Amino acid sequence: MAAAKTDPKAPFSLDSYHVSKELGFILPEPLAELPPYYKPWMDVALRIPELVQSHELRSHIDQMPLLSSSFLQKHRELRLAHLALSMMTMGYVWQEGDNNTVETLPCNLAVPYWEVSQRLGLPPILTHADGVLANWKKKDPEGPFNMENLELLVSLPGGDSVRGFFLVTLLVEVAGAPAVRNIATVINSIRCGDTEAVARALEDITQSIQDMTDTLKLMQVYVEPSIFYGVLRIYLSGWKDNPCMPKGLTYEGVRTEPMEFSGGSAAQSSLLHCFDELLGIKHEAKSGDFLTRMRSYMPPAHKQLIEDISLQPSLRNFVQQQANERLNQAFHLCVTKLLAFRNYHISIVSRFISVPAARARQLRNESHGSEEDMISRAPTALEERGTGGSGIMTFLKSVRDQTKNVFLSETSKNMDI
Ligand code: HEM
Repeated sequence: MAAAKTDPKAPFSLDSYHVSKELGFILPEPLAELPPYYKPWMDVALRIPELVQSHELRSHIDQMPLLSSSFLQKHRELRLAHLALSMMTMGYVWQEGDNNTVETLPCNLAVPYWEVSQRLGLPPILTHADGVLANWKKKDPEGPFNMENLELLVSLPGGDSVRGFFLVTLLVEVAGAPAVRNIATVINSIRCGDTEAVARALEDITQSIQDMTDTLKLMQVYVEPSIFYGVLRIYLSGWKDNPCMPKGLTYEGVRTEPMEFSGGSAAQSSLLHCFDELLGIKHEAKSGDFLTRMRSYMPPAHKQLIEDISLQPSLRNFVQQQANERLNQAFHLCVTKLLAFRNYHISIVSRFISVPAARARQLRNESHGSEEDMISRAPTALEERGTGGSGIMTFLKSVRDQTKNVFLSETSKNMDI
């Protein structure tokens, strides 16, 4: 048993990890406006879809003044600045699709972007922490946290499907928030040997994962696959392992050498990383390396939480040692629901990437209506790759299969699940 970096005798608490009880990893009440000095940024950031459409985004960004980042003080100011600069960067790089990418990000964008990224401990590229966790606003502040009452702060080309993609992912994060709370309960209850309390908390985590899967289903309601694949997806793509940008991107005024960063992906959501560490799920070398790398794309406090969970006494060993039927079943069901989430996610990826990619291949040399045109113009280099740069299906199936390895053989035999 390894010791946690925090005092191992103190109760495990989420307080120091920037985790909200109600919203989990979501940034509570993100700011919608920066101080007036930053108006030149927000004026452009709020018009990205129309400026990309008219091929004017790059020239607007080129004309922005070089602003100092030093007037950004609070965490939420820095998060909005990172979101706005990230969205502008994605638009700048991909404005002309994969044909006419740039090799350099101009210094008036690159320098403040780099500084803000350094202060937040985030990479200078659009991350899940920007596009999802810090990119929401309630229309009616007193109203519910649901699709009807939410809107994005900053958007990308793709209309309602972009709104749907980011907000459904946000709602999946909300559905996962009770699970995060209960991870602390599991850890504290193991420490004091309270089998019933561990079982109860695991049951709550199981329910939360089920809710995440149910919420993920909304993707099919709010996102059009041809728009996700043919329009939005390239704007989430990075400049690492991406044949469209083999050299990476030079951040002018920051470093003379180009740098490589992976694109935005919910593989950067801290939720499943926490579940894997709690349940003792280990990923094999290649997929494990990718997932570990994705942790550097999370806010540092969230990454720290995942690492600290991994240092706690093993839940799986505890379940084995207690040989308690309710606890065995709770553990088994929890892994089963996580597996079901991953299976459902694979079917989503098939619907939103593999199927449109196959249609694009089929249509490439033919002339068709507008929807097909959009799909067949999507970048071919991304067909088999996720925006984070991974070889998609092999990766996702490997991660799913590793999840099965933590089943306790006795429970699997006794339970008809
Ligand atoms: C249209 C919707 C979605 C698509 C097309 C999609 C696609 C992908 C792809 C291609 C990957 C491989 C990694 C990469 O290269 O980026 C991935 C990984 C992942 N995605 Fe999604 N995703 C979607 C929605 C979501 C949502 C809402 C979540 C919830 C948080 C999620 C969670 C994950 C996780 C945790 C991984 C890492 C693999 C794992 O742990 O099983 N995805 N996704």
